[in-house]
Amino acid sequence: MANSSNGNDQQASLDSGFFYVINHGIDKKFMDEVFSQSKKFFSLPMEEKMKLLRNEKNRGYTPVFDEHLDPVNQIHGDYKEGYYIGIEVPEDDSDSQKPFCGPNKWPCADILPTWRETMEKYHEEALEVARKVSRLIALALELNFDYFDHPEMLGKPIATLRLLHYEDRTSEPDKGIFGAGAHSDFGLITLLATDDIVGLQICKNRDAKPQVWEYVPPLKGAFIVNLGDMLERWSNDIYRSTLHRVLGNGQERYSIAYFVEPNHDCVVECLPTCQSEKNPPKFPPIKCQDYLLQSVKLEYEADTMLTFRLTYWIQLFW
Ligand code: OGA
Ligand code: NI
Repeated sequence: MANSSNGNDQQASLDSGFFYVINHGIDKKFMDEVFSQSKKFFSLPMEEKMKLLRNEKNRGYTPVFDEHLDPVNQIHGDYKEGYYIGIEVPEDDSDSQKPFCGPNKWPCADILPTWRETMEKYHEEALEVARKVSRLIALALELNFDYFDHPEMLGKPIATLRLLHYEDRTSEPDKGIFGAGAHSDFGLITLLATDDIVGLQICKNRDAKPQVWEYVPPLKGAFIVNLGDMLERWSNDIYRSTLHRVLGNGQERYSIAYFVEPNHDCVVECLPTCQSEKNPPKFPPIKCQDYLLQSVKLEYEADTMLTFRLTYWIQLFW
C-alpha cells in the first residue's frame, strides 16, 4: 500500500518524520467529496458556524486565530479555521465521561444534508489506513505487526478528524504571521490530505540556527504521513516528530488532518526493541490521556492570553 518499499519508508521516517502514502484504498472521488463538503461548511455564515463552537470535548468549530501553535514566533493565532470530529460516543455510553470522548457536534442536516454521513465514513476509512500504516511501523521497529492493534492502543483509539481552511492571507514569517505556527503533532501518526495549494513546510532539525524550512509538495489523492510526539517517545527518539508549519501564499487552502492517538489509558513507554543497556529509555512513561490533556491545554492557553490582551487594549482605548 505504501508508495515505496518498507525500507524506503523507514529511511524517510528516520530522515524527516514525513512520508507519502498512495494507493491507500480510499476512493479518490470520495476524498474529493469530503473536500467539497468541507468547503460547504466553511462557506456558511459566521453566525451558523459559531453555533457549533468547539466544546470541552474538543469537538466542533474553531475560528481564525483560535489556535496559537507557536506563541513565541507568532503575533496572532493561526490564520485558519477548523472543525474537529472525534469518534462518535453517545452520551449514555460510560466512555463519554472521559476527556476527548462524547457525541460530536453536527451541522444541521437541513443546511448540509449528507455532511455527517460523509464525515463519519471518512473517519472510519482513515482509521483503517492508520492501522495499516501502524503495522508497517511495528514491523520496522521489529515488533509483531499487530503490536499497535491491541485495544489499549489503536483497537480503541482517540482519533480526530480535523477539517482545515486557511485564509488567503500571505504569511510573513519575519512579522510573525503564519497560516499555522511551527509545531509537532502529539500523537502516534497524522494522515494529512491537502488540496494542491503549497503551504506545508517541515524543519528537519529544530535545533539548527537558523532553522531551515523545506516545502512538502502537495500530492493529490495521497496522504502525507507525519509521525507524532508519542511515537518519538515510544521509539526512544529513533523516529522523530518533525516540526512543521503552514505558510499562506495568498490563496485559500483546504486540508484535512486525521490525528491518531492510542487509547486513553495506554501507557506510552519506551518499546522493548528501542532500548538497550547502552541506550536506556530517554522519556519517563506517561499515560496517553495525561499527555494529550497537557498538550491541548498548552495549545489553546495562548489564546486565552490573547483574549486577555485584547480586553486590556479595548479597556485602554475606551
Ligand atoms: C495540523 C497540521 C498541516 C496542513 O493540523 O497539525 O500540521 O497542511 N496541518 O494543514
Ligand atoms: Ni501538524
